[in-house]
Amino acid sequence: MKNVILIGFMGVGKGSVAREVIKSSEYIAIDTDDLIESMENRKIKNIFETDGEEYFRNLEKNVSLWLEASVKNTLVSTGGGFYKQKNLKKIGIIVLLDSPFDEIIKRIEAHPNAAKKLKKRPLLKDLKKAKELYKARRPEYLKLADIVVDVTNKSASECSKELLKKV
Ligand code: S3P
Repeated sequence: MKNVILIGFMGVGKGSVAREVIKSSEYIAIDTDDLIESMENRKIKNIFETDGEEYFRNLEKNVSLWLEASVKNTLVSTGGGFYKQKNLKKIGIIVLLDSPFDEIIKRIEAHPNAAKKLKKRPLLKDLKKAKELYKARRPEYLKLADIVVDVTNKSASECSKELLKKV
């Protein structure tokens, strides 16, 4: 079983889909943001505020090298900017969770913990800037992806089934 790397924009549902995938498969789940938070013993928001984005991207680089050397049978859910790491293809099959920007924001806002979800993501603070970031990143996500799962109006469980059929 090859590793699967879940990429996609903030809030698209990478974590929720990963949780569904491990319920019905042999994959082990790892989340790059969780790894970084435990390595640093602090929240992503704090890392951005105290040390800035470049410092965070360097932590992502360390994680990507560790993943390449160390993981097997693993589903890796990633932060929205992790796709920039150069060795992604060496880690596993890349699956993009895709949805239009406005649908992603609608999905976050409909969540009971919407405020928390927005607050913990420094790059979602300004929605206008976030939309620009989405526009710049989407073609890059599509270029990298081996498999695309359109998550619009689908539950995490439906997305997980589709993913497992396609990998
Ligand atoms: C980021 C996405 C976040 C987190 C950090 C930066 C990005 O993860 O890694 O705030 O650059 O898109 P999620 O995609 O899980 O929100």
